[in-house]
Amino acid sequence: MKMLACKLQLQGALVVSKYSRTRELRDGNSVSQAVVTRENFKTKVPELTVTYVPSPTPSIQTKDLPITTSGKFGRFGGKFVPETLVSCLIQLEAQFRNALHDHVFQEELGLALRDYAGRETPLYEAERLSEYYKRKNNGKGPDIYLKREDLNHSGSHKMNNALAQAMLAKRMGCKSVVTATGSGQHGLATAAACAKLALECTVFMAAKDIERQYSNVRLIKLLGAQVEAVEGGFRDAASEAFRNWVGDLENRYHLSGSAVGPHPCPTMVREFQSVIGKETRMQALEKWGGKPDVLVASVGTGSNALGLFHEFINDTDVRLVGVEAGGLGLDTGKHASTLTTGEVGVYHGAITFLLQDQDGQVVHPYSIAAGMESPGVGPELSFLKESGRAEFFVANDQEAVDAYERLCKLEGIFPSLEAAHAMAILDKLVPTLRNGAKVVVNCSGRGDKDAAIVFNRGIFDKA
Ligand SMILES: Cc1ncc(COP(=O)(O)O)c(C=O)c1O
Repeated sequence: MKMLACKLQLQGALVVSKYSRTRELRDGNSVSQAVVTRENFKTKVPELTVTYVPSPTPSIQTKDLPITTSGKFGRFGGKFVPETLVSCLIQLEAQFRNALHDHVFQEELGLALRDYAGRETPLYEAERLSEYYKRKNNGKGPDIYLKREDLNHSGSHKMNNALAQAMLAKRMGCKSVVTATGSGQHGLATAAACAKLALECTVFMAAKDIERQYSNVRLIKLLGAQVEAVEGGFRDAASEAFRNWVGDLENRYHLSGSAVGPHPCPTMVREFQSVIGKETRMQALEKWGGKPDVLVASVGTGSNALGLFHEFINDTDVRLVGVEAGGLGLDTGKHASTLTTGEVGVYHGAITFLLQDQDGQVVHPYSIAAGMESPGVGPELSFLKESGRAEFFVANDQEAVDAYERLCKLEGIFPSLEAAHAMAILDKLVPTLRNGAKVVVNCSGRGDKDAAIVFNRGIFDKA
């Protein structure tokens, strides 16, 4: 892999760029919201509420999490790859860390997230959805807010990470990017970022996902990327993307969109997605002067869940709730509920929970939502489950479709079917919450791509 072409500027005093601005809080105080910050690692990590884009990775520095340079989260994670790849991954980690410490990179990323991706995304109070649940629970219930990641350019949270990693690829002197996608949202975000940065882009996708998410495939091609069909599921597309990368380590960059894989991939994805939680903290402070009580996110591999949760991991009064795909039901075996029913094994180069049979072979997952069909989750989520810090529940296909339709009708918002899994758990969660509790649900993506699936299903049900 090529060494960094540009001169790295490491460490130094806090720099608040010309893009910093001051925001008024509800209580009359104000915070300086820096679009870009740079902090000497030896100095105290700044309050995360005043940063806008990932600050120099305080998450990796914190003593409260069992993160080491080997990428272990407790007993999960690591780097179980062939010897030849180890040095590439070590170099990738070095470049990642250098970029995080480099104020030029941070400043460029801050600008791109603001002016290209459209951040920050709103924290929207879903008043009619909250009323709906209050009516069902004797007039009592939580106030539900949606973190509108669906409003990002290209329609999902995937843009946060794709943009940052494409910038890293460019900085490393790579000419092309290779990736895999399930729902097409990560493929779309990567293709867009590559077009912007003049990088070639190849997206591997399972043939059946190409069929059911064809609107995204068309857009990916329009953006100039190549789409390669792979037999099997997302797991096979991901393996193919990895193999393709290994074929030309000098010029190609493997842009992981999921929170799985060998170290440093899960940490990089989490870090670049953590802007979701950082904004949420600041917005909650502005809107009701406190923290959320509960955070809810869907879990495919964990990138949107970790993006929302990470900022709050040390706030033990904030409940973290992940929702997996129950597919046709856990007893049918046709689901993608990895943390709920899976066992510990090695998946894509890391120790984590995965769906496997008695011989240790990976079982194909199933969900109505292509992006939820992953047989393994990221190692950090496995750690959060085992440590009890986060709770995980299951929503099945029908519940997700119902939640999709409900959000359309009550709020005029199309959530992706992946995000609809997170909305669906509200039916069970709400009765357990106190009146007026503040719940933030990650609306991780927009659901135009899924409208035909939902529409056809409704018609068939009536027939
Ligand atoms: C919009 C959206 N939300 C959620 C997911 C689930 O993935 P993850 O758990 O990595 O966020 C996907 C995956 O493609 C997605 O496209």
